[in-house]
Amino acid sequence: MTTTPRRGFNDAVTRFWSFAAPVYNQQCLQRWVYQPAQDEVIAQLRQRGSRQIADIACGTGILADRIQRELQPDEVYGIDMSDGMLAQARKRSDRVRWMSAPAEELPFEDGFLDAVVTTSAFHFFDQPAALREFHRVLAPGGLVAVTTISPRQALPLHALSAALWNPAHNPSEQEMRALFQAAGFTIADQHRVRRPIWTPISDLITVGVKPPQT
Ligand SMILES: C[S@@+](CC[C@H](N)C(=O)[O-])C[C@H]1O[C@@H](n2cnc3c(N)ncnc32)[C@H](O)[C@@H]1O
Repeated sequence: MTTTPRRGFNDAVTRFWSFAAPVYNQQCLQRWVYQPAQDEVIAQLRQRGSRQIADIACGTGILADRIQRELQPDEVYGIDMSDGMLAQARKRSDRVRWMSAPAEELPFEDGFLDAVVTTSAFHFFDQPAALREFHRVLAPGGLVAVTTISPRQALPLHALSAALWNPAHNPSEQEMRALFQAAGFTIADQHRVRRPIWTPISDLITVGVKPPQT
């Protein structure tokens, strides 16, 4: 396990999401903003036949609960570091195992899982540390699927935020591939999340595999 040097940033993120948790489940917010990325992740898990799955930064647990109900794997873990979000998640399902932990320091033994997924939260993470941790907890051949906000063209503001405020950086397609490869993953797929044409949101799913030999 690694330790995160970003305790202050993580504390601020945790406080914000505990405050926002009660409004997070609103149906139109979920349907138009969060669900398309979650649909893509479910399709990847179904295709792979994953059995031990963790949803990192699970929020109020909508995706972890869907994975449990729609795919019925052996075990689903929902991990988040906001107690407010986890309190909502616990009300949603008693079949998912909810746990409080940061993405950069997961409560699993090496090689314990065969899939790690995360949607709409990667910009909050210490990205290299989180991906190294995903690699550590995955068994050889295990799947990682990460969705990220990703403008089709880097705006000047995007570049500025990357330079000035690294903790909340939205990586480009190339940066995501480089981050995955640096953590030891082989890229299995990367494409834009399918959304209605009029949606102003532009996001990306990147899927990696931990090579069987490592
Ligand atoms: C926008 S919500 C996304 C929730 C869910 N994944 C979804 O798609 O609906 C972001 C979540 O990320 C969590 N989060 C942010 N940084 C985190 C970290 N470093 N480790 C664990 N959870 C984190 C927050 O507590 C919050 O619940």
